[in-house]
Amino acid sequence: MDLQIHTSNGLQGERSIPGDKSISHRALMIGALAEGVTRIRGLSSAADVKSTLACLKGLGVQIDTTGSETIVHGKGPRGFKRPLAPLDAGNSGTTMRLLSGILSGQRFDTTIVGDPSLSKRPMKRIIEPLRLMGANISGTADFTAPLQISSTYSLRPIEYELNLPSAQVKSTILLAGLYADGVTRVIEETPTRDHTERMLGLSVQSRGKKRSIEIKGGQKISPRNCRVPGDISAATFLIAAASIVHNSQLTLRGVGLNKTRTAVLDVFRKMHLSLNVQNEVDEGGEPMGDIAVKTSDLHSDIMLKGESVAMLIDEIPMLAVTSMFGEGSFTLRDAAELRHKESDRISAIVHNLRRLGLQVEEYPDGFAFESKKDLIGRELESYNDHRIAMAFGVAALRIPGITVRGAESVDISFPGFWDAIGA
Ligand code: S3P
Repeated sequence: MDLQIHTSNGLQGERSIPGDKSISHRALMIGALAEGVTRIRGLSSAADVKSTLACLKGLGVQIDTTGSETIVHGKGPRGFKRPLAPLDAGNSGTTMRLLSGILSGQRFDTTIVGDPSLSKRPMKRIIEPLRLMGANISGTADFTAPLQISSTYSLRPIEYELNLPSAQVKSTILLAGLYADGVTRVIEETPTRDHTERMLGLSVQSRGKKRSIEIKGGQKISPRNCRVPGDISAATFLIAAASIVHNSQLTLRGVGLNKTRTAVLDVFRKMHLSLNVQNEVDEGGEPMGDIAVKTSDLHSDIMLKGESVAMLIDEIPMLAVTSMFGEGSFTLRDAAELRHKESDRISAIVHNLRRLGLQVEEYPDGFAFESKKDLIGRELESYNDHRIAMAFGVAALRIPGITVRGAESVDISFPGFWDAIGA
C-alpha cells in the first residue's frame, strides 16, 4: 500500500502504544515453558508477536485471549507436541531465533520457516552455539532459514562468549540451556536488552566489564503473571513526531524504561528534545513510566559509534530522521549489524535521505550527513521494513509531498501507527 501523507498541524493529547515486542515474545515463550497458567496483560498486538503465538499453538500450547489479558496454559519444557506443519516465524527474527533454542532441546523434529526478508537474515550466529550444545540444527548452505531441527535426547551445557552484541543470540542459548545437563553460561562484553534474564530470574554476575548469565538445565519454571510495558522502540516514533511537528504536546503512558532500552532518550536529550519522564514504577521486574514530549527546537551534531550502538539498534532509523530537523550533523559508525535487520537499514535510510535532497556519505558500517533546509517531498521506499516506513512517515508530517510505499509494514510492530500520527 502506498500512503500519501499530509503535513501535520500538531499532535496533542495521549496515545496508546503497543506492548513491548521483545517482552511480549518472551512472556509467551516462557509462559509456554512454565508449568501452569500465565496471565499476561498488555501483550503486543503486533504481527511479529502473533507469529510467536501461532508457532506456540503449533506446538500444542493453548493460548486464550480475553480482553486485554492473554492466558498461556504452560506445558513445561517437555510438554510440547510435534507440529504437524513447519512453524512460520513470518518476519520475526526474535521468533525464529529464540524458538530455535527451545526446539533444539525437543525429542521431535521441526522445521521453522520465515518470509522472504527473514529467510535472508543470518542464522549462523545461533546455529554455531546451538551445535556446540549438541543440537541437530541446520539451515541452507548460507546458514539462513528454513531451519531444520532434529530430535536430540539432551543438550550439553556450554560457556559461550558472544562474538557480537545480540540479545537474541544470548536468549537463544539461555533457552536451550534449559535442556542441558548442567549450567550454561553466556558472557556478554557489550550489554544488550536483559528481558530474558529478568523474566527467568537468572543469576547475572559482573566479570570486570563483562556480564555472565547462568541458567541451570532441567529446572522447572513457575508461571508468573506479568504486565507488559509499552514499547519504548514504538514510542520513539511518536516522541520524534511530537518534537518535530509544530504545536505538539503528547503524553505516552506506561512506557517501558528498562535501562537496556532507554539510550534513545539520552540521544533525544542531546538533540535538545523537550521530554519529561514521570510516574516511574516497577511492575513485575520491568520499570515503566509516562513520557511527555512537546515541540522542540532541535540541535543535532550527533555521533553514534562504539558500544552505544547496540543499545540503540532499533531506534537508529528514527534518530537519523529526527536529526534532519535540527541544525548540525549526524554520524553513525560501528553499525554494520543494521544491514542484517528486516531490511539493509543503512542502505534504506541513505537511499531515502538522498531522495529528500540530503548529501549523505555511506560507509560499510554507517552513514553521515549535514542537515539542511528545503527538503523535497518524494515517494519513499519502506523496503517492507516497519521501522523504515515509520521513520519516514514521521518525516512526512513536516515535509510536504511524501508518499511511503509498503506502508502496511508498520503492522509488524505498531498496528494503528498511521492513525496515531494522524496520517
Ligand atoms: C531483540 C533484539 C535485537 C533487536 C530486535 C529485538 C530481542 O536484535 O534488534 O528488534 O527481542 O531480543 P539482535 O539481538 O539481533 O541485536
